[in-house]
Amino acid sequence: MSVEAISRHPIPAGFENALVKPEDYARLYAESMNDPDGFWGREGKRLDWITPYSKVKNTDFTMGKVSIKWFEDGVLNVAVNCIDRHLPTRANQTAIIFEPDDPNQPARHISYAELSDKVNRFANVLLSQGVMRGDRVVIYLPMIPEAAYAMLACARIGAIHSVVFAGFSPDALANRINDSGAKVVITCDTAPRGGRRTPLKSNTDAALLHCSDKVRCLVVKHTGDQTTWIQGRDVDVLAQMEEVAPDCPPRPMNAEDPLFILYTSGSTGKPKGVVHTSGGYLCYAAMTHELVFDYHEGDVYWCTADVGWVTGHSYIVYGPLANGATTLMFEGVPSYPDAGRFWAVCEKHKVNQFYTAPTAIRSLMGQGPEWVEKYDLSSLRVLGTVGEPINPEAWVWYDHHVGKGRCPIVDTFWQTETGGHMITSLPGAIETKPGSATLPFFGVKPVVLDPSSAEVQEGNGVEGVLCFSDSWPGQMRTIWGDHPRFMETYFQQYPGNYFTGDGCRRDADGYYWITGRVDDVINVSGHRMGTAEVESALVAHEKVAEAAVVGYPHNLKGQGIYAYVTLMNGIEPTDELRKELEAWVRTEIGPIAKPDLIQWAPGLPKTRSGKIMRRILRKIAENDFGALGDTSTLSDPAVVDELIANRQNHG
Ligand code: WT7
Repeated sequence: MSVEAISRHPIPAGFENALVKPEDYARLYAESMNDPDGFWGREGKRLDWITPYSKVKNTDFTMGKVSIKWFEDGVLNVAVNCIDRHLPTRANQTAIIFEPDDPNQPARHISYAELSDKVNRFANVLLSQGVMRGDRVVIYLPMIPEAAYAMLACARIGAIHSVVFAGFSPDALANRINDSGAKVVITCDTAPRGGRRTPLKSNTDAALLHCSDKVRCLVVKHTGDQTTWIQGRDVDVLAQMEEVAPDCPPRPMNAEDPLFILYTSGSTGKPKGVVHTSGGYLCYAAMTHELVFDYHEGDVYWCTADVGWVTGHSYIVYGPLANGATTLMFEGVPSYPDAGRFWAVCEKHKVNQFYTAPTAIRSLMGQGPEWVEKYDLSSLRVLGTVGEPINPEAWVWYDHHVGKGRCPIVDTFWQTETGGHMITSLPGAIETKPGSATLPFFGVKPVVLDPSSAEVQEGNGVEGVLCFSDSWPGQMRTIWGDHPRFMETYFQQYPGNYFTGDGCRRDADGYYWITGRVDDVINVSGHRMGTAEVESALVAHEKVAEAAVVGYPHNLKGQGIYAYVTLMNGIEPTDELRKELEAWVRTEIGPIAKPDLIQWAPGLPKTRSGKIMRRILRKIAENDFGALGDTSTLSDPAVVDELIANRQNHG
């Protein structure tokens, strides 16, 4: 690693008026630790409350009785906070800039007044379909303004949305519709992306074959492409929006009423429905959006994530809109029509804050700096990264070529479960180090524990697993329909603490360095995949007897998916079968789950009790078989030599 990579980067000039200044950070952090009720009692006032809260924090991390409540007797409406309260001052300000996939199509500027009209009408369409407070609505939409309208329309009437990433397969969609018990699914005809079109309506048709006949399908006619149409089930939502009344009174909601469910992968079993509630979540999303990006009135802010992930929820829709910001929604991909698209969009819309993932930075870095240098990026002030540890090379490239050394980089560590940023730099207050997420946000209490003894590692220069020992308002409250699983997953392993699943190091200066997942979750291009999910997709194929999936270092994706596959007796391993299995996983889960490498494994290393030794499989996949450790407990040590001899090469 270069010297530059480990050195501190001072706060660039021009941040003297940042919202948080160097002297503020320590003071506010200490206050948030010493007096959480006072601190968050004040921060809660960022929101407009119908009935103000009298209680701030009421949380318990004790295994068996985990309970998390913030602002528990407050009443508010999230859509009002994101829209109505801005209307007196910002009706004509742009709320959402929509940049379509095709750069030759005009961008759309949606004002707060127009957003209000669309959301009210969308909400009335939902009501006309019988959606009531507390009902679940699945949203299977691409990056179009209607996705934000749909989310906010749910919030307006107190329905709970569950956005399913448009890259997921019909099976994955059906599972989420069924697990959440949704009454309605919202989709569109087709979704342009990188010049191609994803058939979302026909995916939804396929999914609904596995769901209750009662589920209604609201279709946004986005491209006008032909789709099948089932009378009585399918509803043309844009046409209906013209028919319904323009006003929909907001439903007063309790601070702890669920706002949304978002499914995410864990180390075992099916994806879990992470539940976020209204008051604490919105307060935390708004506060982190404002302070972490140093968002000032009039700025144009762009987060390149998809609304199908939590980043899109907190930092495209809820945080920015709660702050009355202008938020950009981009329908396309970084490489279309060419590798300059991100920078063309930054120039075109004079973007001030730009937030993306290390995987995107790495792939654009590979295309050469000339793609960046073609564009005027002088509007940029703050750069952000999220999703996985950023390698110092990519950090330095981002800083040099995109930020021209003028823009602080905020490396934001957080999770679907945390609702908002947890460990992150602040542009005007914290010096950065390439590859480190730096310091905890206000109210966040990280602890580093020894993974086996669970002992707290005090002081600096320590390493272990990362936990949070106290609650923050944006924290998930439960797993949909399974509170015991919530407690077991996050609070059992290190009692009294929320366990992230990540390893980390706290360096001599107290800076945090996330070292990656320590469980059976892999991080592919910033997307979370449970190895168990890919395995169960593989073994569902008739020719597969057994499968074991692990991650391995991948130059662009961070981690790639490495699958060891044992075929049924008598089945020949061929290249065709390899392709067939890849395609199979794509249709079972989605393109992001497709194995990068498949190794035919006549046998898998198992203990005498039959447990697959993943540690060994991980080492082989990482090309690190010099350090396999103890293999003496294996039932048949010879399989290891066979696997090493036939491993898949990846440089
Ligand atoms: C996992 C959470 C919420 C952000 C999008 C991903 C990894 C996330 C960082 C970062 C190092 C990071 C962790 C975490 N991660 N951000 N800045 N540095 N690692 O959300 O799908 O819930 O995944 O992403 O491993 O546990 P997610």
